[in-house]
Amino acid sequence: MTRPPFEEQPETPPGGFVSFGARDVPPGEKPALVRGVFDAVAGRYDLMNDLMSGGAHRVWKDIVIARANPQPGELLLDVAGGTGDLGLRWMRAGAKTSARRGGPPASAVVSDINADMLTAGRARRGARDVMWLQADAEKLPFADASADCVTIGFGIRNITGRAAALAEMRRVLRPGGRFLCLEMSHPTTAALEALYRRFSDHVIPALGKMAAGTSEPYRYFVESIRRFPDQQTLAGEMRAAGFARVAFTNFGGGVAALHTGWAL
Ligand SMILES: C[S@@+](CC[C@H](N)C(=O)[O-])C[C@H]1O[C@@H](n2cnc3c(N)ncnc32)[C@H](O)[C@@H]1O
Repeated sequence: MTRPPFEEQPETPPGGFVSFGARDVPPGEKPALVRGVFDAVAGRYDLMNDLMSGGAHRVWKDIVIARANPQPGELLLDVAGGTGDLGLRWMRAGAKTSARRGGPPASAVVSDINADMLTAGRARRGARDVMWLQADAEKLPFADASADCVTIGFGIRNITGRAAALAEMRRVLRPGGRFLCLEMSHPTTAALEALYRRFSDHVIPALGKMAAGTSEPYRYFVESIRRFPDQQTLAGEMRAAGFARVAFTNFGGGVAALHTGWAL
């Protein structure tokens, strides 16, 4: 079912459908559609991230891991971790802390539902330092309270059952553990919103066509961002999932946002 322009489209459509970009689809169909998107882009995913964000995603991910602040012996679970950007950064930051302060090294599991994304990640430098695991964020194969930190970068928007995934990420965190969710969000001024809309409509699909040979997955990215809840709404969903002291920081005037919470 194709719906009218984005301004009129709720993120949760009526009639038991869920959003997949500009379309509304039955919930059971969305995971395969999302998988198709990431199958199509896995080999060019890292390059496209750089092109679409002008490299800004690297800075935002550095900030996520600086805020996560890995300590010796701590375990990170990076959910929807794709090619491992956050897991690899956690390991590098953790190694520096252990070298300075002593103690056992930190460790990281990068989990993702998509085998092609994990395969692209396993080919990267440093990949052997992290564990790679194919897993659905809605059913994490980890014991309660088993992780010191859980991150999800640009992943929550792609998950069909966001409430289930948030509950799972809360469940696997130990008391005192921290949760950091980096995601595209909504610009906070009308001027920036207008500029960003033009960039999203024209530049991103063109970049996709040029670099990855197809614009379709990138149209999905643009449309899924528009229909994703705003900063306050996501913060509310995190509280409903049981996270405490929920806060968020806007990046690039709200183009992206880092939401944080604690398991208490
Ligand atoms: C935009 S990529 C983000 C990858 C990485 N975290 C990063 O920041 O570069 C989104 C990822 O979410 C994954 N994903 C989508 N639905 C998922 C689910 N239900 N469980 C786990 N991963 C999922 C996709 O396979 C994809 O790798």
